[in-house]
Amino acid sequence: MHCTRNITNDIVYLGGSDRRLALFENVFPIPNGVSYNAYLIKDEKTALLDTVDKSVSELFFENLEFALDGKALDYVVVNHMEPDHCATLGEVILRYPQVKIVCNAKTLTMIKQFFTFDADERCQIVKEGESLTLGKHTLQFYMAPMVHWPEVMVTYDTADKVLFSADAFGTFGALGGAIFADECGYPQKGFDEARRYYSNIVGKYGMQTLSLLKKASGLDIAYVCPLHGPIWRKDIGAFVEKYQLWGAYEPEEKGVLIAYASVYGGTQNAAEILASKLADAGVTNLAMYDVSVTDPSYIVSEAFRFSHIVFASTTYNNGIFCNMETLLHDLAAHALKNRTVGIIQNGSWAPQSGKLMREIIGSMQNMQILDACVNLRSTVKPENLTEIDALCEAIAADF
Ligand code: FEO
Repeated sequence: MHCTRNITNDIVYLGGSDRRLALFENVFPIPNGVSYNAYLIKDEKTALLDTVDKSVSELFFENLEFALDGKALDYVVVNHMEPDHCATLGEVILRYPQVKIVCNAKTLTMIKQFFTFDADERCQIVKEGESLTLGKHTLQFYMAPMVHWPEVMVTYDTADKVLFSADAFGTFGALGGAIFADECGYPQKGFDEARRYYSNIVGKYGMQTLSLLKKASGLDIAYVCPLHGPIWRKDIGAFVEKYQLWGAYEPEEKGVLIAYASVYGGTQNAAEILASKLADAGVTNLAMYDVSVTDPSYIVSEAFRFSHIVFASTTYNNGIFCNMETLLHDLAAHALKNRTVGIIQNGSWAPQSGKLMREIIGSMQNMQILDACVNLRSTVKPENLTEIDALCEAIAADF
């Protein structure tokens, strides 16, 4: 049976949530599930804004049929061609054979890659700033390349002042009944799952995200309808402020993230001692993670949040401990920059991790690596306490 909600008189939410999927994009844990959002505008002409992932297709088609209420489906706008939003595009065409696909030229190429139907005769190509009138509602199209794929565009409805923002402003987590951010406890509950979504999915493309924000700043927006997570109709500015920081790779908070890789506890001990000394020095905005326990996506998100990061790793196979190496490559791949970094290395016979971590971090832009570093030989010794004090002092000097 259908399960829809109205966003405005003419705009209906048709999406669904997957609470069974373990890994989004087969890599990111989603313990609270994920929603795949799609929207229908009902006017003289009807327009579907994106489709959904296969996992929620049954509910989506019931919702679509119910929301159309016997009307024809005239258009399907494809803002993003990634299969979590387009897997059901082929079936939309089978069920509604008269429907026109509204997309840009890059999307058309991708439709041909993913599907075998005759896309050329089916697609109506739109360019930057062009519009499509449905009756009372006029849709304007703005390109948003690399937020998160090259073909991405966003659609603005001038009648109800709705921005259909594609992956931008998305959030991990299933929706259940409450689909508006203000019904789900935002912004009071914080932006952790929005940041984890942004930093891991779109994080590499900060410049492109800022370009989109600039375009959007010229629009009068009452609703932001992303492809994942809740719809924003209140406190939109609070979310935009976060996006400005994330897109510019500016930390949200002055604080210290400590990520450690420890096999027999010596490196962890040093990390714990450093954290205690920092707290004693008044630096209490701290978060500590064992890279073997916490999935990198959470630590990447925390790295986007904090101003200072300490990486502590044992040497392993004459290199960086594997999980720490993965984390560092992940951070470099997501183009993190503008952070102050401290290093703790351990090595029982041939310490290498400090030098190698420094090389990876040094390849990232505007990362200030502190001179004070800690060099452990298996366990923390008195001389290491002096080094930890120096590292603590160097960090605390910034607070
Ligand atoms: Fe939710 Fe880039 O797809």
